[in-house]
Amino acid sequence: MTMDPAVSLGRGLVLPNPVGVASGTFGYGFEAERMGPIAHLGAVYSKGTTLLPREGNRPPRISETSAGMLNSIGLQNPGVEVVARDYAPRWREWSVPVVVNVAGAGITEYVEVCERLSDVAGVAGLELNISCPNISHGMDFGTDPKRAKALVEAVRRVTELPLIVKLTPNVTDITEVGRAVEDGGADAISAVNTYLGMKISVKERKPVLPGMGTAGLSGPAIKPLALAAVAKLRRAVELPLIGIGGIGSTEDALEYLVAGADAIQIGTANFYRPGVSAEVLSGLIQFATDNSLQSWRDLRWSD
Ligand code: FUM
Repeated sequence: MTMDPAVSLGRGLVLPNPVGVASGTFGYGFEAERMGPIAHLGAVYSKGTTLLPREGNRPPRISETSAGMLNSIGLQNPGVEVVARDYAPRWREWSVPVVVNVAGAGITEYVEVCERLSDVAGVAGLELNISCPNISHGMDFGTDPKRAKALVEAVRRVTELPLIVKLTPNVTDITEVGRAVEDGGADAISAVNTYLGMKISVKERKPVLPGMGTAGLSGPAIKPLALAAVAKLRRAVELPLIGIGGIGSTEDALEYLVAGADAIQIGTANFYRPGVSAEVLSGLIQFATDNSLQSWRDLRWSD
């Protein structure tokens, strides 16, 4: 292949290729590293990380649906100190950039977590999670453009790290939040996190996942919805976009690149086909070669 597969997400964050693995589906990368090679990845996006450790929601926390999966993990994580002190030094030895997904209950917590990670070697960037549907305050910023902008501005003031914002699709118009985070100083946007869903046990006459009752829907079921969100964002913002939602094949990834994504994240498919990211990457490279692409952007839909 003559084309350089690298992708720039701004502020010096250059991924070796567009294929990353989504937050919450790959932990902090260490279990996956034991299961098979990960050096091919364009990026690892870590589990959502908060200031203090969280145990997460009461189990069960995952359930299969038609063509998808519901999760209600509740941001289980070891807290930023462990991530900065114990995990980042291991990431420093990797060739794969690791972007830490950051969550918080309010601006102060987001700022403290981002500040703590700021000068830590091994952390390539931050993905602000304003879109977790499984805790009471998880979507407070993602559903309010003004608050989203204020949060990004506040975090921007304390870090020089590349700042990606992960948006929720659970809004009327995702482009309003996209524009707000662009104005606030974000470097890139991840679109989208899970859709609010629910599964009911008729026998027990209650939701299957007890956390909030509702949960986050991912997997092939959401792909057409997420693609539409990415295409709308592409027409609304200039920022690099990372497309997420139901990607399980090269064709799926190509669809996102056509819709306007610069990079993609594979999520749910990691659970049922751990080798999927390597397959998708080699499929993309084959496609680029066969079609003499000069850049992934050649694929973009323009009207
Ligand atoms: O429940 C969870 O931990 C999900 C997080 C997310 O959707 O970002």
